[in-house]
Amino acid sequence: MSGMNIGTLLVTGGCGFIGSNFVHMALRERPGWKIVNVDVLSYSGNPDNLRAVEGSPRYEFVRGDVADRALMDGLLRRCDAVVHFAAESHVDRSILDSGPFIHSNVLGTQVILDAVRAAGGARRMVHVSTDEVYGSLPLDRPEERFTEQTPMAPNSPYSASKAASDCLARAAHHTFGMDVVTTRCSNNFGPYQFPEKVIPLFVTNLIEGRKVPLYGDGRNVRDWIHVEDHCAGVLAALEKGRAGEVYNFGGDNERSNLELTMSILGLMGRGEEMIERVKDRPGHDLRYAIDSSKAQRELGWRATRSAWPAALDATVRWYRENEQWWRRVRSGAYREYYSQQYGG
Ligand code: TYD
Repeated sequence: MSGMNIGTLLVTGGCGFIGSNFVHMALRERPGWKIVNVDVLSYSGNPDNLRAVEGSPRYEFVRGDVADRALMDGLLRRCDAVVHFAAESHVDRSILDSGPFIHSNVLGTQVILDAVRAAGGARRMVHVSTDEVYGSLPLDRPEERFTEQTPMAPNSPYSASKAASDCLARAAHHTFGMDVVTTRCSNNFGPYQFPEKVIPLFVTNLIEGRKVPLYGDGRNVRDWIHVEDHCAGVLAALEKGRAGEVYNFGGDNERSNLELTMSILGLMGRGEEMIERVKDRPGHDLRYAIDSSKAQRELGWRATRSAWPAALDATVRWYRENEQWWRRVRSGAYREYYSQQYGG
């Protein structure tokens, strides 16, 4: 334990995929905490994700932008610690337009850091980042993995914006002695993921009878971690992480996109005929793989919910059983993005 006493925790971006899973977990597992969730509710933030806790006296929602300094000053004054999830996170969108990524990820993080410092006290902040800041690993050296010492080498506007925010968090600790911990996690899967990301995109496409757009040759490798394993890691970093440190979290679950696609097709009772090979993503990172041994050693954390096929099967089932959730999400503005990205 860091010795901090959390009465009220500020969560930024709590209406997104990972943030909402974290809010559910923290309310369930830390009955003494109150959570204030600040979320701007842009396209991917969805209050439906937290309907079940809306009536709780331990939960409060504030709609607003993390880059709004006056708002953040007010929230920080009445919170004891912050977990900062709020971010634009979709690589393909950052290729179409990086403006929102700089606003939310870079400016937003700077504003939060400044507000935490201005609020005084020893407020702990967990800055939730991504393994994508490390860039890409080669396919022909399978033993290589990202450690916390791996130099940052971001390749997309998204990962560049996250790397910038990680540098701000690092500098806040180094220059001002702020109590900031940064976490970097691999690809998440699970309930409430916005269906622009590959797993919910492919599952919901197949339910709708559409093909699945596989980029390039499908050989790119991702390490898949269940969102609850990630959230447990963030909670451990909040309570036990050392100030100024970075902690990696991975699922020890590397799959090529083709293997992932074939698994999803199998679970959906479909075959290869549903794959549509589409043009590769520009600058597409080849492989992400994470060494989580520091988090295991220092935080006592390990991934316990990520193993396939069971975890993938349960996730696919969640989207099949929660059709109303994703049908609402897939309507409206999302349609425009979909046709811009994939046509049709
Ligand atoms: P994504 O879910 O966008 O996560 P990230 O790019 O942050 O890893 O994509 C995961 C992998 O799936 C990535 O290698 C790109 C690939 N992909 C496709 O092949 N087709 C798609 O339509 C999408 C969205 C992703």
